[in-house]
Amino acid sequence: MAYSKETMKRFTNPKFVGEMKDADAVGQEGNVKCGDIMKIFLKIDEKTEKIKDIRFQTYGCVAAIAASDAMCEIAKGKTLTQALKIKFSDIVKELKDLPHVKVHCSVLGTSTLKKAIDNCPVAEQVAIR
Ligand code: FES
Repeated sequence: MAYSKETMKRFTNPKFVGEMKDADAVGQEGNVKCGDIMKIFLKIDEKTEKIKDIRFQTYGCVAAIAASDAMCEIAKGKTLTQALKIKFSDIVKELKDLPHVKVHCSVLGTSTLKKAIDNCPVAEQVAIR
C-alpha cells in the first residue's frame, strides 16, 4: 500500500502523540471492524473557547496514527465550533491523500474529536450556537 510522504512523516514522527494529564476533555472512539482505537485530549481556553493544546494516543494502523496527528494539527488554535466543522476530507488533504481503503482512518479522527468536544465542559454552550 502506497502512503504519501506526509503520511509517513506523521506516522514516524508525530508531533502531537502522548497523554495529557490535565486535559479539560477526553474523547475515545474505536472502529469495530479493524479494532483501531483513538483517544484525544483537549486543553481549552475557557474565555475564547479555543483549543489551546491537543494530544492523541492511537492504537492502530499507519493511517490512523498519521490521521490523528494531522487532525491535531488542524484543530489546534480553532474554537470548538470551528473544530466541529473539520471533515475527514480535511485530514486526507493534510496528509496529501490516503489510499481509498484507509479513508475510514480519517473518519475515526473526526469522530474522536467530536466525542472529546462533546465531553468538554463548555460544549453545551457551543451546541446552542
Ligand atoms: Fe481502521 Fe486504520 S485500519 S483505523
